Amino acid sequence: MEPPSGPASRRHVPWSRLLLAVSLLTFWTPPTTAQPTIETVPPLAAEGSDVLLLVRNVSENPLGYGWYRGERVENTQLIASYRVDTNATTNGPVYSRRETLYPNGTLLIRNVTQKDTGSYTLLVTKKDLQTERQTGHLHIHPVLSTPVIISNNSNPREHEDTVVLTCGAETQNTSYMWWINNQSLPNSTRLELSEDKRTLTVFNVTRNDTGPYVCEARNPVSVSRSDPFTLNVVYPVAKPSLQASNTTITEHEGPVVLTCLTDETGVSIRWFFKGQSLLLAQRMTLSSDNSTLTIDPVSREDTGDYQCEAFNRGNSNRSNPLRLHVKYQLTPESSSDLSVGAIVGIVIGAVAGVALIAALGYFVYTKTISGASDQRDLTEHKSSDHNHSQGYSDSLPAKDVTKQRK
Ligand SMILES: *[C@@H]1O[C@H](CO)[C@@H](O)[C@H](O)[C@H]1NC(C)=O
Ligand SMILES: *[C@@H]1O[C@H](CO)[C@@H](O)[C@H](O)[C@H]1NC(C)=O
Ligand SMILES: *[C@@H]1O[C@H](CO)[C@@H](O)[C@H](O)[C@H]1NC(C)=O
Ligand SMILES: *[C@@H]1O[C@H](CO)[C@@H](O)[C@H](O)[C@H]1NC(C)=O
Ligand SMILES: *[C@@H]1O[C@H](CO)[C@@H](O)[C@H](O)[C@H]1NC(C)=O
Ligand SMILES: *[C@@H]1O[C@H](CO)[C@@H](O)[C@H](O)[C@H]1NC(C)=O
Ligand SMILES: *[C@@H]1O[C@H](CO)[C@@H](O)[C@H](O)[C@H]1NC(C)=O
Ligand SMILES: *[C@@H]1O[C@H](CO)[C@@H](O)[C@H](O)[C@H]1NC(C)=O
Ligand SMILES: *[C@@H]1O[C@H](CO)[C@@H](O)[C@H](O)[C@H]1NC(C)=O
Ligand SMILES: *[C@@H]1O[C@H](CO)[C@@H](O)[C@H](O)[C@H]1NC(C)=O
Ligand SMILES: *[C@@H]1O[C@H](CO)[C@@H](O)[C@H](O)[C@H]1NC(C)=O
Ligand SMILES: *[C@@H]1O[C@H](CO)[C@@H](O)[C@H](O)[C@H]1NC(C)=O
Repeated sequence: MEPPSGPASRRHVPWSRLLLAVSLLTFWTPPTTAQPTIETVPPLAAEGSDVLLLVRNVSENPLGYGWYRGERVENTQLIASYRVDTNATTNGPVYSRRETLYPNGTLLIRNVTQKDTGSYTLLVTKKDLQTERQTGHLHIHPVLSTPVIISNNSNPREHEDTVVLTCGAETQNTSYMWWINNQSLPNSTRLELSEDKRTLTVFNVTRNDTGPYVCEARNPVSVSRSDPFTLNVVYPVAKPSLQASNTTITEHEGPVVLTCLTDETGVSIRWFFKGQSLLLAQRMTLSSDNSTLTIDPVSREDTGDYQCEAFNRGNSNRSNPLRLHVKYQLTPESSSDLSVGAIVGIVIGAVAGVALIAALGYFVYTKTISGASDQRDLTEHKSSDHNHSQGYSDSLPAKDVTKQRK
């Protein structure tokens, strides 16, 4: 148990061999009562920060210090050693360029990572070559990034689907909290948190479960809250009804206001004209929620069937068509047009009448002519008959004569 050599000879022993000797000695050197203490500063170390392994209560005037990774003093695990008499620091095999060993024994580790989590052992060599050992523990906590809420169903159907919402990536020693509509989770049989609270299950979603949802991840060194997440619950949209201020109106006479009525919330409205998407003309304006269509001034071109459609992300429903009839307007100009038209009509009528009479006259005339020629034919036939009987034989007239005689 005696130190192997006195101060005089020790001066000539190389430091590395001395350290080795010391480390071997430590196996059979009983710990002295005055133990140094190691304190981690800050106590909760976050990834990326600088951490001190602060050493206190070291015996006075030590010869040097050595810091080792792990709980044992092994030269292969030496980070760095410091010799007080020369102020010399020697880096060991596991030195990572981030460590600084101060003359008071304190070790600084910069920009720590989770790999730095573990035990660190300090070996203090005293003047009498006795050693003191102390092991400290470092726990590096990750700095949590902003969690993202992920749903296993992007368009769940109302009353049909169960949705699982997950808060961020899985990290150890992290606790989670949830909010819906900016309030803590309500008591509901349809809501269920996993044991670690990282996943929230919403059974049989309804349109009221849209959210927004927010989750928060918290560990000893950081708190991070997700962006709001909205659940797109798909549900059947009720058929909207369409009303008009006027269904029959004369052109340029006042505006026509079409109103699409729906008692659904969370639906959007679009318009159709003659079955096609309504192209907004300059005289048409939509209200900010698109539920009211104003046509001012109304034009003949606006005559036709109107429909409005209520839709959400998954479903839509169209109103029955509503027919708008825009009548032609009778202005002074157009009435003179009409009289011209009437005149034209009369003229056409007259011409048509004349033509009809002419046609009738022609018909009668041709009928008369053809009747006359028929008679003439008959006459001619008779005369020719007469001629024939005269020219050929007497047989027929003779028979006639005989018949007449009978
Ligand atoms: C320092 O060591 C002394 C004696 O060994 C002890 O009484 C004291 O409590 C220690 N101080 C600390 C902070 O550990
Ligand atoms: C040791 O020195 C470092 C650097 O100068 C200092 O931050 C630390 O507080 C000192 N340790 C003690 C116990 O005073
Ligand atoms: C070691 O550092 C101390 C204070 O920084 C200084 O007083 C001393 O002279 C230095 N010793 C050597 C050998 O450089
Ligand atoms: C800290 O370490 C990380 C990798 O672990 C590196 O990307 C980063 O640049 C380092 N920061 C500083 C200030 O050295
Ligand atoms: C989401 O998870 C729930 C519960 O495990 C399951 O019932 C549902 O089918 C899942 N949805 C999809 C789209 O995978
Ligand atoms: C989580 O905490 C336990 C106990 O505090 C600790 O043993 C474990 O190493 C920690 N894990 C991480 C990844 O921080
Ligand atoms: C949510 O609640 C907090 C206070 O609890 C309040 O400051 C914040 O304005 C609310 N946000 C919304 C969108 O209601
Ligand atoms: C929710 O339920 C718990 C017990 O299940 C009860 O203690 C709590 O008061 C309830 N909260 C509300 C707001 O009903
Ligand atoms: C979800 O709906 C199914 C079928 O309608 C029903 O059997 C079940 O009890 C519901 N679950 C909850 C938690 O309401
Ligand atoms: C949604 O909430 C409203 C108002 O609280 C309620 O009238 C309606 O019935 C709810 N709808 C469903 C599907 O739960
Ligand atoms: C139709 O429009 C005219 C002119 O703008 C108006 O006087 C009349 O009250 C409207 N009829 C109906 C049923 O709204
Ligand atoms: C109204 O409809 C237009 C397209 O016609 C659309 O760009 C706009 O987002 C709609 N507004 C609302 C509140 O739905």
